[in-house]
Amino acid sequence: MNAKTAFKLGIGKLCDAGVPSFTLAAELLLLHIAGKDRTWLYAHPEDELSDAQELEFFALIASRVAGVPTQYLTEKQEFWGIEFEVTSAVLIPRPETEHVIEVALDRLAVREIRAGRKQTLSGEGLNIADIGTGSGCIAVALAKDLPGAQFVATDISPSALEVARRNAERVGFADRIKFVLSNLFDEIPSSQRFQLIASNPPYIGRNEASTLAREVRDHEPEIALYGGEEGYELYADLVTQSAEHLEPGGILVLELGHNSLPAVQPLFDSPQWTHVGVTNDLAGIPRVIAAERT
Ligand SMILES: C[S@@+](CC[C@H](N)C(=O)[O-])C[C@H]1O[C@@H](n2cnc3c(N)ncnc32)[C@H](O)[C@@H]1O
Repeated sequence: MNAKTAFKLGIGKLCDAGVPSFTLAAELLLLHIAGKDRTWLYAHPEDELSDAQELEFFALIASRVAGVPTQYLTEKQEFWGIEFEVTSAVLIPRPETEHVIEVALDRLAVREIRAGRKQTLSGEGLNIADIGTGSGCIAVALAKDLPGAQFVATDISPSALEVARRNAERVGFADRIKFVLSNLFDEIPSSQRFQLIASNPPYIGRNEASTLAREVRDHEPEIALYGGEEGYELYADLVTQSAEHLEPGGILVLELGHNSLPAVQPLFDSPQWTHVGVTNDLAGIPRVIAAERT
């Protein structure tokens, strides 16, 4: 069977099954099994697939029809211009999380201006923590833009940390990111201080599980999704422990669930915190809260 015929049949099967973005999914799966890029599909649609490729393609289409996210089938997702390996051990990095990176870099730049230092930020001398690193996307993205910074990235899931470590190694940042198996900061020495802590903690409520897309509910790791019955339960410990691990003037940047703000904002009503700010995502949802340690 040639590529064009396989592509059309794949689109048809996904469309009939009501899979969202069915054309894109068929394209990504076909390019994945062929090991080619987009131009190949449109420049050489008559190229023949081998029997093995054809079998593999339709097996992936069947898995997608059954609800497995495309990214778990292709084992990749782009984030902050970097291709990340993703397996079912990690949350698929979301575009919303790029706001965490933007806010962190903005806050660091403002800190430099206030300190009267020149604004070109290399991250030299900065120690940064990413709590609940998953695929490693936050630590790796910040490491790309802050080539002088050192990182600690924690996760409670050993299998997620393996994926994160491989992602850091592939882009050549593994020597700057220390991966630690830890419940929040439990395994970080109490004397260790950071200038920046970033986290996208699990924040979905178990009481919302039935409202999730099946791709999310049935395939992404529960430990990465649910923060507790309501969803916001982890934030209190995260904010308290971050306050202990930030140096004065250090910055905390947290991603928020769509309804987390009312529960999370009051955690910053303390003399330990100043310059609290909330950033909306492109849908207008309060997505990131950031604050500075006094
Ligand atoms: C929402 S995912 C975020 C993953 C990644 N940082 C991202 O933005 O795509 C939350 C991550 O936190 C981890 N996690 C959950 N509870 C944790 C805890 N108590 N301590 C450390 N990590 C935790 C999960 O294993 C998961 O990898």
